[in-house]
Amino acid sequence: MRWMENELLALMARRRTNRTAAVPTITARQLSDCLFAGMGITGETSNCVGALPLGMTPSGGARNPYEAYVVALGVDGLEPGVYHYSAADHDLGRISANHLPKISDLVGGQDWADAMPCLVLLCARLDRTMWKYDDANAYRVVLIEAGHIGQNMMLAATRHGLSACPTAALSHTAIKRLLGLDRLTDAPIYALTLSTPEPGPHPAGQSIN
Ligand SMILES: Cc1cc2nc3c(=O)[nH]c(=O)nc-3n(C[C@H](O)[C@H](O)[C@H](O)COP(=O)(O)O)c2cc1C
Repeated sequence: MRWMENELLALMARRRTNRTAAVPTITARQLSDCLFAGMGITGETSNCVGALPLGMTPSGGARNPYEAYVVALGVDGLEPGVYHYSAADHDLGRISANHLPKISDLVGGQDWADAMPCLVLLCARLDRTMWKYDDANAYRVVLIEAGHIGQNMMLAATRHGLSACPTAALSHTAIKRLLGLDRLTDAPIYALTLSTPEPGPHPAGQSIN
């Protein structure tokens, strides 16, 4: 098949959701690349009030509503803890090391998630996008952007031989408490676990039925 000769298409075709962890850790480099793929800053533009970052994914009005947080339980080279990702600095800042949450408690009780070395949480600051768009439009724009970010992270994970399992089943109250988000306009939207998967039954291009 001709598409398999295209490196990018072949990578896209290899992406698969796999909820297993063959080993208990991923590397800091793998995590770093996934975060940069989804959230990295690569340029700058401006509007009537000042400079705005341009990133690896498109953002309505360049308002960049997402903040990424990492629950790192098994990342080689990184102390276990809860971190905030600074896209501007491409760096992680630890929020908390005292309380390491059970990942399943953050993703609606999904037990498989407790074997995962790492969870990336995408939380929207809705007010950033609401500055430019009216209510319903702002909501739509913000949700669309989660898909862009998540897909880039999944592809970077795939490139590293990881699986990034997306989940929209989020325990909003637990996440907001963990991250210290207390405003109505702070909204956990999407999350991805990262792991080196056990070989799955449905490799790329293979039908599920
Ligand atoms: C928006 C969204 C939400 C999802 N939520 C969950 C989830 O809560 N739990 C889960 O195990 N998988 C979740 N998934 C993963 C899907 O189950 C998975 O993508 C689907 O089975 C297709 O498999 P594939 O990703 O390997 O193509 C979600 C996927 C998307 C796109």
